[in-house]
Amino acid sequence: MVAEAKRIRSIRPETISHQRGFETLAQEYDYSVPISAVKGQIPAAVRGTFFRIGPGRNKLGGQEFGHWFDGDGMLHAVSFKDDKVVYRNRYVRTPKYLAETKANKIVMRSFGHNAPGGIRNNIGRLPANCANTSLVYHGGKLLALWEGGRPWQLDPATLDTIGEHDYNGKLGKFNAFSAHGKVNARTGVYYNFGIRPSFSPKGALTGKGAIDLYKIAPSGNLVEKGAFEVDYLSFCHDFALTEHYMVFFQSPIAMKSPLPWLAGLIPFDQAIDWRPELGMKVYVVRTSDFGLERVFTLDNPFVAIHFSNAWETEAGTIELDLTRFEDFSVNQLLRDVFHSQGDSFGGTFWRYSLDMSRGGINARQYRDALPGEFPQWDHRYTTQPTSVMYAACGMSDNATFFDGVQSIDLATGEVKSHFLGAGRYTSEAMHIADPDNGDDKQGWLVSMVYDASTHKSEVVIFDAESLKEVAVVPLQNHVPFGFHCGYSPRSFVR
Ligand SMILES: [Fe+2]
Repeated sequence: MVAEAKRIRSIRPETISHQRGFETLAQEYDYSVPISAVKGQIPAAVRGTFFRIGPGRNKLGGQEFGHWFDGDGMLHAVSFKDDKVVYRNRYVRTPKYLAETKANKIVMRSFGHNAPGGIRNNIGRLPANCANTSLVYHGGKLLALWEGGRPWQLDPATLDTIGEHDYNGKLGKFNAFSAHGKVNARTGVYYNFGIRPSFSPKGALTGKGAIDLYKIAPSGNLVEKGAFEVDYLSFCHDFALTEHYMVFFQSPIAMKSPLPWLAGLIPFDQAIDWRPELGMKVYVVRTSDFGLERVFTLDNPFVAIHFSNAWETEAGTIELDLTRFEDFSVNQLLRDVFHSQGDSFGGTFWRYSLDMSRGGINARQYRDALPGEFPQWDHRYTTQPTSVMYAACGMSDNATFFDGVQSIDLATGEVKSHFLGAGRYTSEAMHIADPDNGDDKQGWLVSMVYDASTHKSEVVIFDAESLKEVAVVPLQNHVPFGFHCGYSPRSFVR
């Protein structure tokens, strides 16, 4: 199958630009697709709800947002029934969305642009929460996640916004709550984190960074908080979770000085730089008491954005997989994403083994993996060993966006891939397990695919082992390119 990937990369299918996939979807829909309109067959075990989130609009009043990360969060829910597939989409009603919709123009300062009106409208202001990055269904609550603020709760059936969620007052107004919490599959406990500046006991800035830690019981109650200090305040998007540890890779993406941003002169993303001179450390924190267990130093800094599964071994190592970028130039690609016509922003895939007793690190690249992003796995085994990682990838030489899905065998490095065809683009795919089959190489993947030739999207179900498309659900609308997904075996609609 590696050979197949190379062959497809050399046939140069005619490019149909992905760019219209960034167009705003203003309308909020509720409709059903009859089973007769579905190409192929939806597996009998797939009767739950697939959620997808991302920016629903990237411009307003004719003005483009400064960065892909600034778009207002829109949640899409796809419910698989015996006789139909039910689709619904809703914007998350954040203060940013409400104020800017009413004004029909940019009003608030965001991650990648300042508010209009100069310094007086930006000085000392934090980027507005746009609830657009990821989602979780945990403790009976559906949450839309950003990473610089608190989560937003939605009704899983109607997708109506319920409100900002603070876990019964346990998340403060300025507590960040990342987009990439993880649920220990064995215990059902949800762990998450947020980054912030470090303060002395007297409340003064120390010049270092801190990571807040949260433990949320299966009931949905936030039962424990902790924090630890890191060398400097940096961008930290994701972490790896094992049975006993949370593992953070601190990539050197940091501000040289916060003053131009605090003074309202530049937006946040222009204030952070690639600063390899700061070095890179790996912090391993115990889940039992949120104490720091071990710190590793890496010789060559890189950018770790997304992690796949992780686990501990009897030999005393932590095994984890991640997507790696060699510097932060990817941020410029994400900023220019509305105009890019072919810059690849896929990363490489790596295994890191952390020796918890002797302190060594072993890293090896999955060299046959295609450039990609959004690593995923069978979530039944989160914190326990898995054998395969799934990811979106760029396959054709002139791909302008992710035009394939791949699976990477974690033991052999063997790569299987599936080319979506010219003009078909995707992002993250979720693994759906067959409850009667414990093999994580089997089951299905589900993903949103944008077809540039029709300017509409499809919900595609792939066989996880062969990566063949087993069902294609045509939607009436396009789903703007987004970030992350979720799947619940529950159906919330009739
Ligand atoms: Fe992410």
